[in-house]
Amino acid sequence: MCGIVGYVGKRSCTDVLMNALSKLEYRGYDSAGIAVFENGKIRVEKSKGRLADLADKMEKTGRPEGHAGIGHTRWATHGEPSDKNSHPHSGADVTLVHNGIIENYKKLREFLINQGNTFTSETDTEVVAKLISYYYKGDPVEAIIAATKELQGSYALGIVFKDYVDTVFAVRCESPLIVGIGKDESYIASDVPAILNYTKDYYLLEPGEIAVLNPYGAKIYDHHYQCIEKELKTADWDMDAAEKQGYEHFMLKEIHEQPTAIKTTIMPRISDGLPNLEECGITYDKLLRYNKVFVVACGTAMHAGVVGKYVIEKLARVPVTVDIASEFRYRDPLVGEGDLVIIISQSGETADSLAALRLSKDRGADTLAIVNAKGSSIAREADMLIYTHAGPEIAVASTKAYMVQIAVMYLLAFEIALAKKVIDEDEGKRLIKELEAVPDVIQKILEEKPDTQFAASKLINTDSLLYIGRGLDYALSMEGSLKLKEISYIHSESYAAGELKHGTISLISDSMPVIAVVTQPDLALKTVSNIKEVKARGAYVILVCSDNIQVDEEAYDYKLTVPAVDSLLMPMTAVVPLQLIAYYTSVLRGNDVDKPRNLAKSVTVE
Ligand code: M6R
Repeated sequence: MCGIVGYVGKRSCTDVLMNALSKLEYRGYDSAGIAVFENGKIRVEKSKGRLADLADKMEKTGRPEGHAGIGHTRWATHGEPSDKNSHPHSGADVTLVHNGIIENYKKLREFLINQGNTFTSETDTEVVAKLISYYYKGDPVEAIIAATKELQGSYALGIVFKDYVDTVFAVRCESPLIVGIGKDESYIASDVPAILNYTKDYYLLEPGEIAVLNPYGAKIYDHHYQCIEKELKTADWDMDAAEKQGYEHFMLKEIHEQPTAIKTTIMPRISDGLPNLEECGITYDKLLRYNKVFVVACGTAMHAGVVGKYVIEKLARVPVTVDIASEFRYRDPLVGEGDLVIIISQSGETADSLAALRLSKDRGADTLAIVNAKGSSIAREADMLIYTHAGPEIAVASTKAYMVQIAVMYLLAFEIALAKKVIDEDEGKRLIKELEAVPDVIQKILEEKPDTQFAASKLINTDSLLYIGRGLDYALSMEGSLKLKEISYIHSESYAAGELKHGTISLISDSMPVIAVVTQPDLALKTVSNIKEVKARGAYVILVCSDNIQVDEEAYDYKLTVPAVDSLLMPMTAVVPLQLIAYYTSVLRGNDVDKPRNLAKSVTVE
């Protein structure tokens, strides 16, 4: 989604803005722009396309020279990607950049047209610039307070006023925004990595708060215009974590970071060989109260929930419903007191997941967030919180975040099963030991480099393929399929292997490859029969299986094996070849692996 940056200080503002925006490229965007105070006047430069296009344009016009300004990468919502729709947008006195969606923009636009305004873009953002200008009578904060009272929807805004040279204003509601503090300089940014090159200290702006940044620091006001003191936070990520460190792509680096990410996530939650989630607000007493569990999330995080469902139901015998957040929030779900709603989110800012969390709380359910981004909205609003410690995930395609999400789902499943006494302590300790051993197994898989490039080479010219599996292998297939389609742009679907005969097998031919996942010994024979059925109909079959399962050679064309671990934990190891197949398919097709077309890392609008 869109990225916002802003700077006030002694450095070249254009340099800082362009550098900071480059750190937000991973969020996904289709145009970019900056506004800089140059000789006391606001100068705007913007362009459709990548930051490199904006830089090229400025090479011709001359880079704006100044020490304060705002910048933006836009992911189009209202109006196509174009120069004129790119941010910043201006009103008579105001220029601004915006993340989010203004839902009532049409009504406001009509009002402003009746007031004599003319619009140059199709965006909702230009409406905000003109509305703030409308309310501006000399005091920027008053104008921001008055205008934002009229806005419905989500927004984070970076604003400059033509009368307030070298001052940057910011305000947010729903969409996140931070204020970075350096020595004699300050920043705004929609995400921490944008400013890590300059400072690790920042304030997290709360909804309705307004920041005023000048060369002497930043002041923050509440929406009654009262100056407030805020806690200065320090990012625990360093720049290295947000750099490629020799890997060709962030995605590949993040796949290799998985063993460490699992250890960092699970080890603090294990004591005396058993899970211990008390620090996260989760006790046996609480767990005993829940009759039903909902897992609500989007995309990959939702797939982690599907793995969680299989494991919690199998181990703890508690019914679990997994919901896509955008469906859950509008389907009037039967959720309420006595239920546990688990929201899984890497960014902690996904609009639908946040709305699902709020709805669940309103209806009296207890909520538990499993979140990677510290201090994010979902993390702050949930009743209980388990942070995953994956560090910054930059590639749009989620890999290490998924891995730690499922690691946490295992801890939780073990804990619920122990609380309900469905398993005893000895079994709990055995399972924890197995879980602790997984990072080394993944490390071994990565060191031995399974030939996933060969598998990828078999897929690059196909238009469509299927992933099949049963049980946990089906849960894993969902993630394998999403990973492939989002970065390779090849259509793929995941299917429960036993469901194929009910319609989908008619698609099978020699131009429809199948990736079959077989890691569950008790289901292997059944899945192998299904594999033989697709093979008999011409499909090229890539088999991903654990090394304790024997599959007849005639059932597949190419086999990738992973070392067997406890069958419940197999998704953690077997996902690695699936991630690598997706990665290499994207590389071989010459795609932008880390920033796939049309996608955004953090989906902060519905
Ligand atoms: O930040 P979140 O975990 O809430 O994001 C949810 C999905 O948008 C995300 O998992 C998406 O599906 C991934 N980019 C897929 O790799």
